[in-house]
Amino acid sequence: MFDRPSRLKASESEIDAALARLRAELLRPPPGPAATRPERAAVSPHVGVPARGRPLDEALDHMLALAGAGADRVDHPRFHAFVPGPAALASRIGDMAAATLNLQAGSPRQSPGAAAIERTLIRWLADAAGLPPEAGGLFLSGGSMANLAAVVAAREDRLSESERPRGVAYVTAETHPSVTRALRIAGLSRDRIRTVATDDRFRMAPGALEAAIARDHATGLRPFLIVATAGATATGAIDPLPDIAHIAERCGLWLHVDGALGATAALSPARRALLDGIGRADSLAWDGHKWLFQTYGCGMLLVRREAALTDAFRLDAGYLHDLAQDDGAPNFWDMGPETSRPARALKLWLTLQTLGLDEIAAAVDRACAHAETVDRRIAAMAGWRRGAPASLGVATFRCAPESLDDHAADALNAALAADMRAEGFAVVGEARLNGRRFLRLCALHPETTDDDLGDTLDRLVVHAARRL
Ligand SMILES: Cc1ncc(COP(=O)(O)O)c(C=O)c1O
Repeated sequence: MFDRPSRLKASESEIDAALARLRAELLRPPPGPAATRPERAAVSPHVGVPARGRPLDEALDHMLALAGAGADRVDHPRFHAFVPGPAALASRIGDMAAATLNLQAGSPRQSPGAAAIERTLIRWLADAAGLPPEAGGLFLSGGSMANLAAVVAAREDRLSESERPRGVAYVTAETHPSVTRALRIAGLSRDRIRTVATDDRFRMAPGALEAAIARDHATGLRPFLIVATAGATATGAIDPLPDIAHIAERCGLWLHVDGALGATAALSPARRALLDGIGRADSLAWDGHKWLFQTYGCGMLLVRREAALTDAFRLDAGYLHDLAQDDGAPNFWDMGPETSRPARALKLWLTLQTLGLDEIAAAVDRACAHAETVDRRIAAMAGWRRGAPASLGVATFRCAPESLDDHAADALNAALAADMRAEGFAVVGEARLNGRRFLRLCALHPETTDDDLGDTLDRLVVHAARRL
């Protein structure tokens, strides 16, 4: 039917050339975890838009050079900062496949196969988390969007319009900032967001939470949402989910668990117990592009009661009426903030099919063990101390010899992170704990070895000795 030549498609030879270029990119090992100074200096995005188009392979070559210049190699086994991004080949290919099919995944009527894959995966993830059979959810671009959609669903579910100005939400200082941003977007003023105290392991203190809720009730406010974290970004800490779930259930508050980083531990039989209580959440954010080896743009939101999402997000647009489902089941655009959306579930499906559950569980176990090894090594290093106990692949520590006061130690540790980056052997992150600067190592890459970590610590010691 549409077999006439198209400028939007390409000739066979153009496709071959473009795929060959991408193939070369996939085969090229990252030269190191950090971009070098000349690479960063080479960034020059000042390229205008031509009046007449140029050949695809030429433009693609140019684009790859531009886009790759100066970029962090977040998928290098010694990239230990932030949350690394070790995307599996299957995810990269799945991403390309989704783009190649160019599915509009907003409605099962427009892409029934992709919708079935998304629904299957959501069901499977909900089961893995221990959510009930009526649980549902959808794919979003990442943890920030999942947190936002959860906060909006909680607000709609627990507060009437007239109660909204009195609604109060509970977080901790370790909660990811995307949650506070989500609360602000959802209309909460800063004085309606309580920062609950944490214990000596940076976990929400249930007693302090309970007391704060009681205080707010007593002053006529409407506590409605607790945000707990399973895998805090700075420390990997897991809030005491059973205790918090108990308080949420008893006080009638919505419990959202931000498991963007840590929920994947539910897939490891050896580590699953760490997340006990997670299945009691009303909603759960879980990122594919953190510990499930996905390319960026892959987050999931699971909800205990799927109707909570449609209550919050249902879309009534005349031009979409003919895409309503015969059985009245919701479209994905009725369950979240997006209307047109890519088929993000495809790449996770392909990854799970090719890696298999055992390999993912082994990667979780290895990452946890790596961080614990770092902890043990730090304990044996004179002048160094741990920040928080290693948790879910994250270790925190700082060089703090007695000769330095806290401020000087802060400056030293910031300088050490910069030294490592400049050297280019490994990238180590930073964390602020109790107002002090710590180094942070997030060992989620499945190919990171004991030697990688040992050598990284050895180099830190060398840099510290040079600076002291
Ligand atoms: C615990 C946690 N929640 C949420 C986010 C935000 O996720 P995203 O960057 O996918 O939006 C992060 C990011 O690191 C995180 O660690």
